[in-house]
Amino acid sequence: MNITYYGHSCFGVEINGRNLLFDPFISPNELAKNIDVETVPADYILISHGHEDHIADAVKIAKRTNARVLCSYEVYLWLAKQGVENIHPMNIGGKIKLDFGNVKAVLAVHSSGLPDGSYGGNPMGFVIESAHGNFYYAGDTALTYDMKLIGEYRQIDFAFLPIGDNFTMGVDNAIIACDFINCDDIIGMHYDTFAFIKIDQAEARHKFERAGKELTLMTIGETINKK
Ligand code: NI
Ligand code: MN
Repeated sequence: MNITYYGHSCFGVEINGRNLLFDPFISPNELAKNIDVETVPADYILISHGHEDHIADAVKIAKRTNARVLCSYEVYLWLAKQGVENIHPMNIGGKIKLDFGNVKAVLAVHSSGLPDGSYGGNPMGFVIESAHGNFYYAGDTALTYDMKLIGEYRQIDFAFLPIGDNFTMGVDNAIIACDFINCDDIIGMHYDTFAFIKIDQAEARHKFERAGKELTLMTIGETINKK
């Protein structure tokens, strides 16, 4: 799997030639100004919830690529109104089989209003299972005991967890989440984009290290390989 960071909580994950794009928020992100949103590849766009900082470029990228968008039923209704045609609505607990593997929608403890104030349903995270490995994309969420179910449900090889605090869990709670999901290989997200979620990166790394866990903080535009 190749993982590319587009800033904030937006990642591309390439699995066996298929491109998954999570929570596209690129063009409004000053930190991601070197990313050309017109060239970001997508066969699937996974949207955890309706907040602007997760959906800003979804319509544009979906229309350009005709990627299939996976999201909550309420986000589906909203995207359809914006003219997006290839959408697969899901809800928490549901799993779908796709050409690269399975996607299961899991609980996220957060909120999910859409940019125009429409109701966005419940926020979600995703567990991705494939022949090349399994991972958890938490979306925006607090630490919740339900994460234990994820660790019991599947072996998680690595996970994208929010660490910016204030709107989601922060570093200390993300370290506890590692134990709940039984995975010590973490890619951090949802930090430093806004003043409210600025973190001390060195301290975050140090805390993970002390806990015997690995925290990867990717540079925007960087691609890394997993497994
Ligand atoms: Ni949010
Ligand atoms: Mn957010």
